[in-house]
Amino acid sequence: MKIIIEKNYEDLSKQAAEIVKQAIQEKLNLVLGLATGSTPIGLYQKLIQMHKQNVLDFSKIITFNLDEYLGLPANHSQSYHYYMKENFFDNINIDSKNIHIPNGETKDVKVFCRDYEQDIQNVGGIDLQILGIGSDGHIGFNEPGTPFNSRTHLAKLAQSTIKDNSRFFEKEEDVPKFAITMGVQTIFEAKKILLLASGENKAISIAKALEGPITSQITASILQKHQDTIVILDEKAASKLKRKY
Ligand code: PGA
Repeated sequence: MKIIIEKNYEDLSKQAAEIVKQAIQEKLNLVLGLATGSTPIGLYQKLIQMHKQNVLDFSKIITFNLDEYLGLPANHSQSYHYYMKENFFDNINIDSKNIHIPNGETKDVKVFCRDYEQDIQNVGGIDLQILGIGSDGHIGFNEPGTPFNSRTHLAKLAQSTIKDNSRFFEKEEDVPKFAITMGVQTIFEAKKILLLASGENKAISIAKALEGPITSQITASILQKHQDTIVILDEKAASKLKRKY
């Protein structure tokens, strides 16, 4: 694992965008795994800027999002379909047929999850996966206790995640209780992983994930074993690490 500590969120986003840019320039039909939440917003903004300056062409990239809330229609303002459209896809030249996001309204979750895995396999696997981390150490919606060998599945959100995500909803009761998420194994199979974390409220989960025991109680800790993971932190998210990087 390579750990990069940047001064602040702006620098973290810049550094992350450089890595994604390089990957796309090396492989125009890159298979890019994408995350939602507050953390990657700055990265998406930088990539959009690069596109507007004609530095980056997204016309051939293929994307797979990590997760989606169960039961939210794509046009719901808090769905991850909506988030991706607003924060990234509507502002770049991606081909809509290359976009994959779990369908929160699927009638058959099991079949959907199996097909999602198959779709990833059919394009040769994920080349670069962007990740955030939950305050409980989750990646995707792989909450504490999710087995490392899990694949795309229906996940029950931990109470702490519901609380964390309630800031996006009117009230806590409105946060969906379930989501479809790539599994830990699905994520682990990505050839390269870029984990981003910003702010003090991530410091404990980052310290546990990077320096603690590898345990399914902190699903991000499996990344210690991944062959090509880059972690970019700002100083606040890095503040509880024991080692100096
Ligand atoms: P955040 O979420 O980027 O909104 O903090 C990260 C996550 O829960 O994985």
